[in-house]
Amino acid sequence: MHIGIFDSGFGGLTIFKSIRARLPQYDYVYLGDNARTPYGSRSFDAIFRFTRECLEELFARDCKLVVIACNTASAKALRTIQQKVLPVEHPDRKVLGIIRPSAEALSHHPRTRSVALWGTEGTVKSQSFALELEKLAPGLGLIQKACPLLVPMVEAGELDGAGIDHYIAKYWRETVALAVSEANTPGSAGTGISTTGTAVDPGSLSPERDRIGALLLACTHYPLLLPRIRAIVPPEVDILVQGDIVAPSLADYLSRHPEVESLLSRNRTQRFLTTDQTEGFDRLSEVFLGHPVISEKIAI
Ligand code: DGL
Repeated sequence: MHIGIFDSGFGGLTIFKSIRARLPQYDYVYLGDNARTPYGSRSFDAIFRFTRECLEELFARDCKLVVIACNTASAKALRTIQQKVLPVEHPDRKVLGIIRPSAEALSHHPRTRSVALWGTEGTVKSQSFALELEKLAPGLGLIQKACPLLVPMVEAGELDGAGIDHYIAKYWRETVALAVSEANTPGSAGTGISTTGTAVDPGSLSPERDRIGALLLACTHYPLLLPRIRAIVPPEVDILVQGDIVAPSLADYLSRHPEVESLLSRNRTQRFLTTDQTEGFDRLSEVFLGHPVISEKIAI
């Protein structure tokens, strides 16, 4: 049996790349729901339905275990699928998300009072990261900033240049503004949930009291912008990339679950499925993975 990797489109390839590098021995089936991407601004009902349909496809293609390599789908659909769908319909299959391991990585951040994340509107509004983090590290502030223009810009191949730098700088300024307003709101310290904000001078961020120690790129597309984000966000802020978090977490899961691991075939194969045109998928996948990809179109 295989490992399935599911994303709303191309973005999950950034996570697949890290998983494959860490666990090259297994057989993988990647499914991108490109025909219905982006999920980021869609309703709970739509994301749940789309995710469920895509999981059915991967189960039908012999995936024992599926990683939902999409923050929005993990935030909105994973819990219901794990609690209500799998026990009844697929008790022999496993589905993992990427929010819990990412929240664990944030909670272990060593030298900080606040951490920040950038994600889609759906991920931020779901408060899934905030809820996980509250359990793991009560009192650690979380600044959440939706960055809705970054996904379409990545999809359009705008990975560098003045346009993307403008929006990265704007989103960072707004993240800092959220941290400042959080710190200045009586009684807010430690609750850490902020999702809106207006422009405030980033210089007014107090290094000791309000510092953002880490920024999690909680959207699958953003790692493609890492060189530009790293160039714009101050160097004292650690930038956490989910591939680096999810791959070791999956390796750890498999080592703790021999009943799953022992069923996985080991032929080092990869199959790429898309719900939209293969030409576009192959072209952008090459950007994400750094090598040519030949995909198959499936109808859902
Ligand atoms: N894969 C999505 C995520 O990580 C980003 C793209 C989308 O909005 O569908 O949230």
